[in-house]
Amino acid sequence: MTSAALESFLAELERLRGDAAASLTAAADAVAVEQARIEFVGARSGRLKAVQKLLGGIAPADKPEAGKRFNEVKAAIAELFASAQERTTAAAGDAAGDPIDVTLPGAVMPLGHLHPVTQTIRRVQEIMGRLGFESVDGPEVEDPWHNFEALAIAPEHPARDPLDNFYLAVARSAEPLLLRSQTSTVQIRVMESRRPPLRIVSLGRVYRPDTADATHYPMFHQVEGLLIEPGTTMAHLKSVLRLFASSFLGGDVRVRFRPSFFPFTEPSVEVDMEWGGRWVEMGGAGMVDPAVLEAVGYDPAAVSGFAFGLGVERIAARRHGVDDIRDFYRNDVRFLRQF
Ligand code: FA5
Repeated sequence: MTSAALESFLAELERLRGDAAASLTAAADAVAVEQARIEFVGARSGRLKAVQKLLGGIAPADKPEAGKRFNEVKAAIAELFASAQERTTAAAGDAAGDPIDVTLPGAVMPLGHLHPVTQTIRRVQEIMGRLGFESVDGPEVEDPWHNFEALAIAPEHPARDPLDNFYLAVARSAEPLLLRSQTSTVQIRVMESRRPPLRIVSLGRVYRPDTADATHYPMFHQVEGLLIEPGTTMAHLKSVLRLFASSFLGGDVRVRFRPSFFPFTEPSVEVDMEWGGRWVEMGGAGMVDPAVLEAVGYDPAAVSGFAFGLGVERIAARRHGVDDIRDFYRNDVRFLRQF
């Protein structure tokens, strides 16, 4: 028959084992395991220690059994503790990820590249630079003088129609401002501030309320060329355009002039280029009109020159075999990656 002291000792030991098992199997991290360790097997006030003290009150005859059970529970708790420790350390390792091997080659970051229109602009600048044309910039917000009047585009001219331009609602001056509809504005700005001889190109954005289709976009780019030198003729214009086109497109390119009209050139032509068996209209050109030379303070009797304006998207599309210039602006990397 077991004595009452032994019975209560064994019951206490069993409760301790159950509580320790519940705490240690539920412990989710190292902190919880450490708390359980202090509670159950802490050297000073751990519950195992408290139960051990009860051993003193057990009758000598019951001591061997009580001691044996105590050691079993102590070992069981130690085992529970060890496996809880192992489990939480492994989980912490997983959360921290695999150790870093600094000797492995680094991950290659995908690098983008310049947009095909920007590539085209740089290429045109480079080719024209070799022909002696300096690259200059002009503002995209313009006044009517630079966009129209100095270019001999009279107030009643249809090109000034509000429906054909992006006039700005902000009245910053008495005159309405607008997003430039052509880069010919830069011809005026350069001639106003410099004296001949001049060889400049200007590439930049222009804006027109055109409906987008395969060859039109409401925002597009133009390359403007201007040469003012004594004795300049249409033959020089054609030679420069042919040299440019052969360099840009590669191989033999034919250039064709068709009679046309621009208020700021006289005579005026449409410029077509034939490459790979197809003729494509690239822009307009002509000899700078004496009225324009006068507007910028040059003497038309003493100086002459030519000017041209080509569509950048059109020449880029021609070069790369793109059928629809809207593709340049769809932001589809599968398309853009090809350039
Ligand atoms: C002009 O803009 C004249 N300033 C060109 C010029 C310059 C003539 C110097 C004489 C001397 P035009 O409106 O034709 O001309 O436009 C020139 C080129 O811009 C067109 O041939 C075409 O290639 C391109 N272009 C015109 N509208 C668009 C558009 N909506 N989208 C894309 N390209 C366009």
